[in-house]
This record gives sequence, structure tokens and C-alpha cells, in this order.
Amino acid sequence: MEEILRAPGLGGGGVPRYARTDLEIAGAHVRTGDLVLLDNGAANHDAAVFTDPDSFDIDRPAVPHLSFGHGAHYCIGAPLARIELQVVFSQLAARFPTLKLGCAPEELSFNAHVLTGGLTALPVTW
Ligand code: HEM
Repeated sequence: MEEILRAPGLGGGGVPRYARTDLEIAGAHVRTGDLVLLDNGAANHDAAVFTDPDSFDIDRPAVPHLSFGHGAHYCIGAPLARIELQVVFSQLAARFPTLKLGCAPEELSFNAHVLTGGLTALPVTW
């Protein structure tokens, strides 16, 4: 389930923050008041942290990901989301053993307008 949270990345362009001081990040100058979009999804694919980061590896050793953010604004709903995901993914295959994708994978599209991303639609058959 942690790999399901880590692997897809996030939509919406990133978590918004406004710089409180002038600063420099990896050679980029950021001025006080500038909008900075923090791409947690990109951090979740950092090859320095995750081996073969673009692979979905259900046996991946647990490494903390940033899908719920970090620090003062860490997602307050994370424990609930984890419970919901555990229930869904532990029951889905048992309830629908013949469940499969209802379209070609390349026909799927991602929702870029919400912070947590996700697919615009997920057609399935069983
Ligand atoms: C897989 C599901 C979810 C994901 C990926 C997710 C992701 C996130 C992220 C990345 C943030 C940090 C935003 C920031 O730093 O500005 C956040 C904050 C927040 N999330 Fe979630 N979330 C999920 C589910 C939920 C649920 C189920 C709830 C409520 C029942 C919830 C309520 C909140 C709230 C209230 C905040 C703001 C916390 C604050 O600013 O102090 N989230 N979420």
C-alpha cells in the first residue's frame, strides 16, 4: 500500500508555498514572496533514495515517501487514508478475482487539476 502511495506521483504541479525570505535552491534564486511549487511526486522518484524509482515494486523495502507531505502541514488524514487503502486493496482482488483494465493502458489520462492527482477515469471489467 505504501508503494501504491509512492509510485504514481502527484498532480496539480506541486504543493504551493510562498518564500518568507530570499533564498537559493540548487542554483535557482527565489525572492521573498515568490510562489514555490514543491513536487512531492518528483521527490518520491529520487533515484538517490529509491532504487529503480520508476518501477512499481510491491516488495520494495519501506522507505518514507512524501505523498502525505512533510512537517507542519503533514496530511492530517493520512491514518484514515491508509486504513481506507488497506481495506480496498485487501478486499478488491478477493471480491473481484477476474478484475482487469477495461481499456488499453495508453488510453488512461491523469487529472492535473487536483493536488493528489489520480486518473480522470479507470474503466474496468470483471
Ligand atoms: C491518499 C490520500 C491522500 C493524500 C495523497 C493526501 C495528501 C496530502 C498532502 C500532500 C498534504 C500536504 C499539503 C501541504 O503541505 O500543503 C495534505 C494535507 C492535508 N490533508 Fe491529505 N491526503 C490524503 C487524504 C486525506 C484525507 C482522507 C483527509 C481527511 C479526512 C485529508 C485531509 C488533509 C488536511 C486537512 C490537510 C491539511 C493539513 C495542514 O495543512 O495542516 N487528506 N494531504
